This record gives sequence, structure tokens and C-alpha cells, in this order.
Amino acid sequence: MTPYEPGRPIDDVRRELGLERIIKLASNEGPYPPFPSAIAAVAAAAAGQRLYPDPGAWGVRDALCSHLGVPANTILIGNGVDSLIKLICMTLLDPGDELVMGDPSFISWKQGAAIQGATIRTAQLADDGSYDLDALAAQITPSTKLVVVVSPNNPTGGAVSASALAAFVRALPDHVIPVLDEAYFEYLSAGGHDGVALIREGARLVVTRTFSKAYALAGFRIGYMIAPAELIGLIGRVRNAFDVNGLAQVAAVASLSDTDGHLAHRVREVTAERAMVDMGLRAFGLAPLPSQANFLLVPMGSADRANRLNSALLARGIIVRPAGAFGAPECIRITIGRPDENLAMLAVMAEALQEIDAV
Ligand SMILES: Cc1ncc(COP(=O)(O)O)c(C=O)c1O
Repeated sequence: MTPYEPGRPIDDVRRELGLERIIKLASNEGPYPPFPSAIAAVAAAAAGQRLYPDPGAWGVRDALCSHLGVPANTILIGNGVDSLIKLICMTLLDPGDELVMGDPSFISWKQGAAIQGATIRTAQLADDGSYDLDALAAQITPSTKLVVVVSPNNPTGGAVSASALAAFVRALPDHVIPVLDEAYFEYLSAGGHDGVALIREGARLVVTRTFSKAYALAGFRIGYMIAPAELIGLIGRVRNAFDVNGLAQVAAVASLSDTDGHLAHRVREVTAERAMVDMGLRAFGLAPLPSQANFLLVPMGSADRANRLNSALLARGIIVRPAGAFGAPECIRITIGRPDENLAMLAVMAEALQEIDAV
């Protein structure tokens, strides 16, 4: 197995390069701190952490029930979606089973399948970086147990249309369980898909979402899945009882109850900044893929050029993500940061491009 290579931490790069200002645009985190209500709730709850957390994470589940309009026994809270991915694979996949997904795409799904000794079958993406659902369907065999649609897809940012997704899920054979990874759901353009709405309408579908991105809680590690109650029950038998820590639960509940419009405001800013960064990169002759997430994938022509740009940016204090680990070695992925961070990135980009092209 290839180990997962996370975006480099700020302190790590600061230690290595001795630079004062490091900007991390590498892991698709939210650009601002958690919502003020979440920070206040966590501070207030800190003294109570002598006790084990609620193993059922009922506070979060109740809040999600009312937010999403689905019953509590169809909701499972996890230690980030990453851990839910492992649990889904652990529960459903055996050697000889197949997981079908797009490529390049989010590697945790591949890792989850590989750990189980299952076979991974991949389908090429459409030209716009979204999942090609016909190509995906063509990879399904009688041994396929799980078919995963990551939309918006990481690392490309492309999303499938709501109608194509609904038709794809409806047409699947009964022996296949579809999973929709909606980690970047909040950033979808108007009219985009809503996996939970499909479930409410009766679709047999598993949806995963996270608090790590638009809710800015990546450090707390909390995400959730909505799935048929039977599957949630099965996963309940293999998961660790206390895998979602108490402060993460408190932070998620407070974030869901935020009434100050932080989520909408931040999503608006990120999408406006994404357009600005896209334009800025185009002015340098680059051609980012169309994105409905909080990042842009930038093809650089070759893996060598992508790696050299990554190093040139790093030397100037900007951490981006070479996309080789995702299966796109000729690209770099840039997370949309705060306006000042994005401008700082664009300001050194010209210099970094000059440096790599001068070699
Ligand atoms: C598509 C996708 N799914 C899932 C995750 C995992 O999110 P979490 O932080 O909840 O583990 C990520 C994180 O980058 C992602 O990009």
C-alpha cells in the first residue's frame, strides 16, 4: 500500500525553511477559525472532559435529524469521514469483492478497499474533472459491492449534475451499494446535487459529509454518514464506541446551531475568491479545472514541472499540494484561502513560474 501523504503542516515547513510567514493552501481546510459559537461551546465544555464522550453522539445526531430531515437511526457520526470510509470498507468488503470509483480521486476509498484485500476498479473522469457516471457504471461487475462517487471530486473539483446522479443511482443493480462522498457539498453551485434529499425521496444510497471543510473543524475530526439503518447497525458492531471525542461533538452541535450566517457568508467568500484566483492563474497562462469546491487543480504539463512549481512555491512560504498521490502527478492543487493569502500566493506565483521555466 502507498501511505497517505497529507499536506505539509505549517510548523514543519517553518522549521525547515526558517521563513516567518507560511501560508498553507494544501489540505482544503476552511480559511477562518471555527465559528465563534463553536469556540465558545468548546471552551465551556473543556472542564467536563473527565468523562468519556457520548458513544452515540446523540447531540450531533439530533441536530442533524432536524437539519436534514432524516431519522436518527440512519445517521452515524465518525472521527472524520476518513474513519467512516475505513468503517464502511471494513464492514462491507472482503477479498474478492470490488470497489469501483473514479481516478484521479480521493485516495482514502482506495486505501479502505486495499486494507480489506478487495479489488479496486477505476473509471476515467470526464474532461471537466467530474465523475463520468457512464464510465463508472461500465466498471461494475457481479463482484462489485461498493461504487463510490466523489462529487465535488477531490483533487479536480468537478461535480456531477443532480439529474445524472439520480438516474445513475436508480439504474444500479441490487448487489451494488452506491456511496456519494459529499465532503465539499456546501460549495456546490446552485442547483447542485443533494444526496440526503435523494435518500429522503427513497433512494438506496450512502452519503458521507464532513465538518472539516466549510465548518472549519478539521482539527476536531468529525464527519457523518447517512445510510440505511441496517448498514448503520452493522457498522455499529465494528466501530470503537468512543471514537468521536467529546469536544468534537460539542463543536459540531454549536456549528449546526449557528444563527449568525457564518456558513453562508464563508461559502460566498470562498466561491468569490475561487473566481479571483482562477482569473489570476489564467493571467499566468495556467488553466485550472472548473471547480465547485474550495480548491483548484492546476495542470502543469508534466510531473516534473508540477514538482518544481511545488518546490518553488514552498521556498517562498506557500504550501500547495502536488497531486501525484491522488493520481494526477502533472498537477498541483491549490486550496482557496483568505483574500490576503490568495493574493500573497498569486504574488509569488509569477516569480515561481519564472524560476521553473528558466531552468
Ligand atoms: C473527498 C473527501 N472525502 C473525505 C475527506 C475526509 O474528510 P475528514 O476530514 O472528515 O476525514 C476528504 C478530506 O480531504 C475529502 O477530500
